[in-house]
Amino acid sequence: MVKKTNNIFFSKGKVNYNDRCKLLKQRGIVLWLTGLSGSGKSTIAIELEKKLIELNKISYRLDGDNIRTGLNSDLGFSKQDRDENIRRIAEICTLFKDAGIITLVSFISPFKKMREYAKNKVGKNNFYEIYVKADLETCKTRDTKGLYEKAKKNEIENFTGITSKYEEPENPDLILDTTLLTVDEAVKKIIESINFDY
Ligand code: ADX
Repeated sequence: MVKKTNNIFFSKGKVNYNDRCKLLKQRGIVLWLTGLSGSGKSTIAIELEKKLIELNKISYRLDGDNIRTGLNSDLGFSKQDRDENIRRIAEICTLFKDAGIITLVSFISPFKKMREYAKNKVGKNNFYEIYVKADLETCKTRDTKGLYEKAKKNEIENFTGITSKYEEPENPDLILDTTLLTVDEAVKKIIESINFDY
């Protein structure tokens, strides 16, 4: 999967994470939103990004569907491809964090092992696992993209929650139950729970 390259020399710069955070007056952190398709990850990230701009904070969204139209357009939904999907995002969000950006990641990221991988890559002090929780029945009812209907008719392989598993976070930093919270309430909960200031 990952080819090891020799003869590579890392060049250390003269500006570091702290310099950038000081300049931007914010912490470079990763907010990792995980949950079933239709649980509300993207919707919350979109509103949170808007709210953060109002608070003079710069954030950037990395969204599963969006990234899969570009960088990860070569990947499907097998276990191996999903792991590679998350491995790449773990690398990218580590760079964004290092740049001092509040990085909003919304990927199903169904496997505990890869979420743990991302956390270790970013560094646990700057990584927040946020479980966007909605039960399968609710997601099926919402079915905003019509994908649960397709999965039911066997028109999609390895569909999370139906023919591919979702491993619930055991000890997330925050749980947003979107069967109980409005989008605004979910955003408020994030803003109140996390310190964005440097
Ligand atoms: S992940 O499992 O690899 O983390 P990711 O978040 O990138 O998934 O992509 C999920 C999105 O891809 C869903 O929101 C949905 O729109 C679309 N999708 C297409 N096929 C599938 C599938 N088999 N399982 C889940 N989502 C799918």
